[in-house]
Amino acid sequence: MEKKPSLKKEVIQGIFGALVLISIFVFIGNRIAGAGHHEEKGGGEHAEVHDSKGPSPSDMRTFTVNAEKAKKGKADFVACAGCHGAEGEGKSGIAPRLNSTTFLAAASDAFLFNTIKNGRSGTTMIPWGGSFKDDQIENIVVYLRSSFKTEAATLDESPLKGNEEEGKKLYSDICSACHGSSGAGYQETANGTGIGRMGFLEKTTNGFVRYLAKHGKTGTAMKPMIGAKTAVSNLTETEIDSVIKYLRSQAW
Ligand code: HEC
Ligand code: HEC
Repeated sequence: MEKKPSLKKEVIQGIFGALVLISIFVFIGNRIAGAGHHEEKGGGEHAEVHDSKGPSPSDMRTFTVNAEKAKKGKADFVACAGCHGAEGEGKSGIAPRLNSTTFLAAASDAFLFNTIKNGRSGTTMIPWGGSFKDDQIENIVVYLRSSFKTEAATLDESPLKGNEEEGKKLYSDICSACHGSSGAGYQETANGTGIGRMGFLEKTTNGFVRYLAKHGKTGTAMKPMIGAKTAVSNLTETEIDSVIKYLRSQAW
């Protein structure tokens, strides 16, 4: 007679314990799903759903450019010159060129600001938010804008076409020679940017990557991948999309 109630109690405790465990799993699951969604915000699904026409040129340029801010930004750029060069010309195998027309046309003020403030994980581009206040970082962006003038590009943020399988093949046939077989960039090939890294992909939109792949990065070995005379890199827009799909699927 005494055993029955305690057995019942154990069953109830068991069910209660299972419920607690299930809630914990659901909670953790949601957190992981939430984190995944957050990571895609920079360039993936978010941009496709809400921003299919891409940002307008005024969204791309939000900082007021004036000589006073540019002068202050230039003074702080000393911290960057060791890697990016005194004139932002970049150093092969060390840091990318900033003084590049197509790069600066496609890079929004927000992208430049966030890249400088938060760095690019996995590379020597550390978060500079610890050394510089927000207005100092803004001044550095203003310095780049006033020294290297470009019109804001119109980025195509429409949904990606193509497919990962095709992208994987194109990446290994064409891009990997300069960007590394895993997309690690400098640490692998001493040549191109680490375009396979999460640190790059989480901050760039598909429109940005499309634009640079299509038009190349002026002043560097990155030539336009569309309309090029050499067969090896004469891609279609869908093929470039396939490469981006592949890069996003393997981002690490
Ligand atoms: C120790 C070397 C180093 C220093 C110092 C440095 N960077 Fe960088 N920077 C890098 C590297 C490496 C990358 C990323 C390369 C990659 O993604 O593969 C990078 C990326 C960038 C990018 C993105 C460029 C692109 O092509 O996508 C910007 C913008 C940038 N840095 C600005 C700055 C500014 C502004 C400073 C100074 C406050 C600075 N960096 C200091 C090494 C450096
Ligand atoms: C001949 C070498 C070469 C090949 C092939 C190549 N790239 Fe590049 N790529 C570069 C170099 C060099 C840079 C700029 C690095 C710098 O500024 O120092 C670059 C930059 C880029 C950038 C801009 C990243 C940034 O923010 O600076 C993108 C996007 C890019 N490449 C995509 C691709 C894709 C996609 C392919 C294949 C379809 C490809 N590249 C093939 C050499 C190459």
